[in-house]
Amino acid sequence: MQTLTSTASATSTIASEPNTEDSFVDFQRVFLSYDDSDAFAVEDISLQTRHGEFIAIVGPSGCGKSTFMKLATGLKKPTRGSIAIDGKPVTGPLKIVGMAFQAPTLLPWRTTLDNVLLPLEIVEPYRHDFRKNREQYVERAMQLLRTVGLEAYADKFPWQLSGGMQQRASICRALIHEPKMLLLDEPFGALDAFTREELWCVLRDLWTQRQFNVILVTHDLREAAFLADTIYVMSKHPGRIVARKVNPLPRPRELEVTYTDPFNALVHELREHIGRVRNT
Ligand SMILES: Nc1ncnc2c1ncn2[C@@H]1O[C@H](COP(=O)(O)OP(=O)(O)OP(=O)(O)O)[C@@H](O)[C@H]1O
Ligand SMILES: [Mg+2]
Repeated sequence: MQTLTSTASATSTIASEPNTEDSFVDFQRVFLSYDDSDAFAVEDISLQTRHGEFIAIVGPSGCGKSTFMKLATGLKKPTRGSIAIDGKPVTGPLKIVGMAFQAPTLLPWRTTLDNVLLPLEIVEPYRHDFRKNREQYVERAMQLLRTVGLEAYADKFPWQLSGGMQQRASICRALIHEPKMLLLDEPFGALDAFTREELWCVLRDLWTQRQFNVILVTHDLREAAFLADTIYVMSKHPGRIVARKVNPLPRPRELEVTYTDPFNALVHELREHIGRVRNT
């Protein structure tokens, strides 16, 4: 089995990292200070992903995971270093991104379907022709709702849905404009263990069908181990990437894999790393 790679020995795995030229996400020695001082929230982040790769970022609270997301979407500019997404330097907020967070944030006065359609109503270029194309967009939304098992709830309001259903709907909303990149910040953190595992499978299936790039931030090491191709461990403040682990578990992955020795060994390994990060 492959072992965790600390930055101290990262050179030994460089060959298995994607080539910068055809990477999708490309962070080159990125630093960010919120107040332009020398106190960095994230420090010296270098990371490359393949097209269609699913990565997870794990690390203690306050280590800079959400900051990483803001950098990847262009909401924040690096203080030092450079970021390119899909071969283009990031100079401002990106449109090729869909996002979902821990709280589903659906609008209570809109139905599930209308919540999913919302980005198309407010973001160009869709907004311009929204009325004309509404039928086609509704079909697209219904297809997504079908994939996540919410077809029968399209006309219900958020308060008529369970927490897990609301989170399914917000993932559909994040995907309605067919983004190349899906950013998920603790998307399943508020759900019970059974619902969370159900949604892992929903996300796995959407990703398998549509092959978008995923950056998943999570505190749940099992979640990272089940879903991701590559798992990055970040250190405490200032946030640095201290380990990169290529997930050895083959795909397709079913929930049964979470009861196997290789899965437990992977989670154990990640946990040891987090323990080390927390104690320093
Ligand atoms: N808007 C901001 N202005 C100033 N400092 C900020 C801002 N946002 C985050 N920080 C600081 O940057 C560091 C990283 O924060 P970030 O939100 O990225 O952490 P995180 O890993 O997402 O934490 P959590 O797991 O709790 O969500 C923290 O020290 C935080 O206080
Ligand atoms: Mg955060």
